[in-house]
Amino acid sequence: MRTAVDKPLPGVFISLEGCDGSGKSTQISRISSRLDSAGLNPLVTREPGGTPFGERVRQLLLDPGSPDRSILSETFLYAAARAEFVSKIVRPALAQGRIVITERYVDSTWVYQGYAGGVSVSNIESINTIATGGLETDLTIILDISDSTVINERLALKQKDKIESRSGKYHQKVREGYRVLAKRFPHRVICIDAGLDVSAVESLIWKEVVNILSKKGYDLTNEKHGRESL
Ligand code: TMP
Repeated sequence: MRTAVDKPLPGVFISLEGCDGSGKSTQISRISSRLDSAGLNPLVTREPGGTPFGERVRQLLLDPGSPDRSILSETFLYAAARAEFVSKIVRPALAQGRIVITERYVDSTWVYQGYAGGVSVSNIESINTIATGGLETDLTIILDISDSTVINERLALKQKDKIESRSGKYHQKVREGYRVLAKRFPHRVICIDAGLDVSAVESLIWKEVVNILSKKGYDLTNEKHGRESL
């Protein structure tokens, strides 16, 4: 257990990833409530977005009426929003010792523009590194759903954006890409079966979050007192 003279706890950077309709927003809101209850005041954000510039780029990328573009142009637009996101939102929050939880980060580009879109892995990784200055997450959780009918049912309920409107084949590649990604970055990426019920998925994610936080020196054995010693 830490005492008041211990140095402050470090920032922790966590991302949730997964195909459209995999339940990321629901889970982020549940996990951030648990962190709030533990007194940890997480910063919850998303990509593309998080900054006024990023939100404008988001509209350009996702608005169904937005002009068509090449996959490479799209890659650079995500990267432009990300450069802003990392320098204005993520790095300052981590420097203050906050827990940052983002819905999507570099791995979305790896999967959507790289694996499914056809931009080479080496180009994607170089562009991501330039945009982020090499900032990696401490933990990335992929919400994996193998049954495409579940996703299709969920997406049928909403108006599809520019990316969601792409072919079933593209989205199949996205799901496959996330599994390939998990094998490429095993030191930080964990796949969770998002086909389970929402509370079961939440418990699995929470276990991983507690695990990374304890590695960083946080004590969540009593959730109410996690940051007591700061
Ligand atoms: P969402 O916030 O509703 O998930 O929408 C974001 C969309 O943008 C989603 O379809 C995934 C896509 N995306 C990419 O294609 N590449 C990226 O780098 C990111 C961050 C998102």
